[in-house]
Amino acid sequence: MAEPSVALRPVTEDDLPLLRRFLTEPGLIGLDWAGFRDAGKISRRFATDGFLDADDTWLMVSVDDDGTAAGFVSYRKGQFGAAGPHYEIGIALLPEWRGRGIGWRAQAMLCDYLFAHTPVQRIQAGTHPENLAEQRSLVKAGFTLEGVIRACEFRAGRWRDGYLYSRLRDDPSPG
Ligand SMILES: CC(C)(COP(=O)(O)OP(=O)(O)OC[C@H]1O[C@@H](n2cnc3c(N)ncnc32)[C@H](O)[C@@H]1OP(=O)(O)O)[C@@H](O)C(=O)NCCC(=O)NCCS
Repeated sequence: MAEPSVALRPVTEDDLPLLRRFLTEPGLIGLDWAGFRDAGKISRRFATDGFLDADDTWLMVSVDDDGTAAGFVSYRKGQFGAAGPHYEIGIALLPEWRGRGIGWRAQAMLCDYLFAHTPVQRIQAGTHPENLAEQRSLVKAGFTLEGVIRACEFRAGRWRDGYLYSRLRDDPSPG
């Protein structure tokens, strides 16, 4: 199957039902499922800033040139000590759009976007040891595995390790 075209765009009102699904359908978001969350916060956040707060942004991943939403990406500002801020990115695609070359391209595009519009030096992403799709996507998007973050999340009944990846401004862009 040919790879669909991929673009990032701001959230619109029509996307809100899809975003609510990720908070209310067990497992739709993948391994990050942490129980039911207040779906009303989607409308409240949209009314407040359209998910475009500079420190905490969500963008839709759209496919097929007609704006069809395949899922969303996010980035959030963080900081280590006195160093300049970094961003941590995240992604979730609907199951029907996974495994079609969208995830790694959307994350590479998000890096290009952040490097173009902010002076950020470091973009990081965490994932789960069993999430082979995200590990491979991050590497294809130009990220490097930094290491294991021990017992960093409580998920599915116990404390679990995570893998931390980063891409720096001067790291080579994927093809
Ligand atoms: C993780 C996710 C973003 C990856 O995006 P995707 O579009 O499915 O992945 P891609 O099609 O871009 O594939 C990228 C690479 O991963 C590989 N891959 C894809 N799905 C895979 C799977 N289930 N198992 C192993 N490898 C997989 C692909 O083969 C490709 O590598 P290759 O080119 O070397 O063959 C997507 O599957 C998703 O949204 N999953 C649910 C939510 C989630 O896990 N988010 C990340 C939380 S940390």
